[in-house]
Amino acid sequence: MKKIILSFGLGLLLISCGDSGDKKTTEEPKEEAKTDVPATTDLSSNPDYQTGLGLIAKSDCLTCHKVDEALIGPSYRDVANKYASLSDTIVTHLAGKIINGGSGVWGEVAMTAHPTVSQEDAKAMVKYVLLLKK
Ligand code: HEC
Repeated sequence: MKKIILSFGLGLLLISCGDSGDKKTTEEPKEEAKTDVPATTDLSSNPDYQTGLGLIAKSDCLTCHKVDEALIGPSYRDVANKYASLSDTIVTHLAGKIINGGSGVWGEVAMTAHPTVSQEDAKAMVKYVLLLKK
């Protein structure tokens, strides 16, 4: 009789263990959602961000621009916050600015022209910059 009770108890124990195991797996995604940094993980898997970042790293942009600090040019974060949208008009406008250079939006200092950068690459760079918006 004792054995029966014991195995019944064991059975219950196993079931409750199984339950808590299930709970763990359902709780995990919730914890992930709670952590407040999905923006960065999203960005690193965003193809526009990756392409733009790669092109910018290969060009001379970083001699005048940093992500968070104004250098000779405005910080990329400031540019992103100013335009605040990835609309086609804005992307095309800023891509043109990268290719042709220009001044007057952020101050008197001009951005050099980048005539060897293609329209497509310039757009990818702009998308990377605008994705830095906070
Ligand atoms: C010689 C320094 C210099 C280099 C190199 C440079 N920039 Fe700039 N950039 C500037 C300056 C200065 C401004 C601000 C121009 C203005 O006030 O209109 C600027 C502005 C910008 C803007 C905002 C334009 C606007 O109208 O608001 C973007 C986007 C940008 N740069 C991207 C880039 C990219 C991408 C590269 C590399 C291909 C690059 N820059 C290379 C100096 C530079």
